[in-house]
Amino acid sequence: MSSIFLFMLISSTISIARSEVTPLRIFAKIPRNASEERQQVDDSTDSDLKIFYYDQNLDHFTFTPKSYMTFQQRYAIQSKHWAGANDNAPILAYLGEESSLETDLSVIGFLRDNGPRLKALLVYIEHRYYGTSMPFGSGKEALKNASTLGYLNSAQALADYAAILLHVKEKYSADHSPIIVIGGSYGGMLAAWFRLKYPHIALGALASSAPLLYFQDTLPIHGYYYIVTKVFKETSESCYNTIRKSWEEIDRVAFKPNGLLILTKKFRICNTLNNTIELKNFLDTIYASAAQYNSNQYPVASLCEAINNGVNSENDLLGQIFAGVVYDRGNRSCYPISVQPTEDSIAWKWQTCSEIVLPIGHDEQDTMFQTEPFRMDIKIDGCKLQYGVPPRPHWVTAYYGIQDVKLILRRFGSNIIFSNGLLDPYSVGGELFLFINF
Ligand SMILES: *[C@@H]1O[C@H](CO)[C@@H](O)[C@H](O)[C@H]1NC(C)=O
Ligand SMILES: *[C@@H]1O[C@H](CO)[C@@H](O)[C@H](O)[C@H]1NC(C)=O
Ligand SMILES: *[C@@H]1O[C@H](CO)[C@@H](O)[C@H](O)[C@H]1NC(C)=O
Ligand SMILES: *[C@@H]1O[C@H](CO)[C@@H](O)[C@H](O)[C@H]1NC(C)=O
Repeated sequence: MSSIFLFMLISSTISIARSEVTPLRIFAKIPRNASEERQQVDDSTDSDLKIFYYDQNLDHFTFTPKSYMTFQQRYAIQSKHWAGANDNAPILAYLGEESSLETDLSVIGFLRDNGPRLKALLVYIEHRYYGTSMPFGSGKEALKNASTLGYLNSAQALADYAAILLHVKEKYSADHSPIIVIGGSYGGMLAAWFRLKYPHIALGALASSAPLLYFQDTLPIHGYYYIVTKVFKETSESCYNTIRKSWEEIDRVAFKPNGLLILTKKFRICNTLNNTIELKNFLDTIYASAAQYNSNQYPVASLCEAINNGVNSENDLLGQIFAGVVYDRGNRSCYPISVQPTEDSIAWKWQTCSEIVLPIGHDEQDTMFQTEPFRMDIKIDGCKLQYGVPPRPHWVTAYYGIQDVKLILRRFGSNIIFSNGLLDPYSVGGELFLFINF
C-alpha cells in the first residue's frame, strides 16, 4: 500500500480571525522545483496510455432541459496488461479527485504497480470541474458563481464515474470483468461511497487515506493538527518546542514599532506583511504539509534538523524558524507568501464551502499551535458571503449514512479496504479498523 502515498490537494480551514484572511488552505502535491515536475511528467507518459473524452451529462438527477447540457469528461486507459474479456480479467478504476488527470497520472503508482500482476485494464477518470473536464465551455464560466458551480458535487461525480465505467465495459465487451475502484483522500471517500451507491458496478473499493469520518456529525476525538503536533514532537522534542514558542515570539515582535516590517525582513517576505496572520498561515502550511506528505525527499526529520541547527549565538528563536523556511522553500532572495488561486483550488474551495466541510481547527490539545478551534458559524457566514448560498455540513452524513460506520458496512457495505498511515494527519478522520469481506 505504500505506493499509494497520496493525500492530494487538501484544504484546511483555519477558523476565526485567520479564516477571514485565508479561508482555504491547500496543501498541494506540487513538485517543489521545475526539474522534479519535468521528471514526473516524463514518468507519466506510459506507452499505451490513451486519452479519451466522454460526452457527459451536466446533471444526472433531473430531466430539465438544462440538465441535458453535456461536457467532455477526460479519462485515460491502459490496456497493455489486460488479459481480456474472455478471461474476465479485472478493471482497476482510479476515481479522480480535486486535481487534473495529468497530476494524477504523474503521482499515482498503485495501478501501474499492481496492474500487470492482476492482468488488469487500467482506467483513470478526471473529476468534473478539474483539469479539462469543465462544463459550460471553460473554467472561467464553470467556476463563476453558485449557479454554475452547483453541479460540482460528489453525487454528480459518482454518477459521472458510473456512466464512464459502464461505457468502458461496453466498449471492451467486458461484461464480466469485475471493477475495483480506487482513490485517495477525497478520492478515497469517493471510492468508498461509489461502492455503497453503485455495488452493481464496482465489486470492491480501495479507499486510501480517506477522512470520511471527518464531518460535523462524525467528529473525530482528535483533529488534524493533533497528529501534526504528535509527528513533530515524536520527531524532535526541541524542534517541537521551538515551533510551539515561536507564535508568541512573532506576536511580541509584531507589537514593536515597525514590528511587521521587522518580521517581513527577518523572514524575507516579498511583500510587506499586513498582519501576523499572513506569516503564521505561511508557517502553518509548511508544518502541516511536511507532516501530511512526510516524504523520503522532504521528511519532517530534515525540516526539524534545519530548525534545530538554525540556532545561533543570539539564541534567536525566529532565526531558527527561518532556517526551517529556507530548508523547505529553498534559499531564495524573497518568499512570496500569497499564493495565486488556480482553477483547481477555486473548484475545491467551492466543494469545501458546500458539501465537503471538514471542521479543521487548532484545538487545545494541538499544543504546537496557538489555540483556535473550528467555528462552524463563522465558516457558514464566510461561505454565504462568498457564494450567496450556505454550506450543508450535514448532507454528506445523511446521504452516505456513515455515522455508525461499522454497523452500516456490516449490513450492506462490503469489499471496501480503508488504508491509513497513522502518521497521516487525516487518519483521525479515517476508518482505522480494516473491514474486508471478500
Ligand atoms: C530539484 O529536484 C531534483 C529532482 O528531485 C533534484 O535533483 C534537484 O536537486 C532539485 N533542485 C533544487 C534546487 O532543489
Ligand atoms: C451567475 O452569473 C450569471 C451570469 O453572469 C447570472 O445570470 C446568475 O444570476 C449568477 N448567479 C448567482 C447565484 O449569482
Ligand atoms: C498585504 O496586502 C496587499 C494588498 O491587499 C497585498 O498586495 C500584499 O500581498 C499583502 N502582503 C502579503 C505579505 O501578503
Ligand atoms: C543563501 O544564499 C545566500 C546568497 O547566495 C548566501 O549568502 C547564504 O549563505 C545562503 N543561506 C543558506 C542558509 O544557505
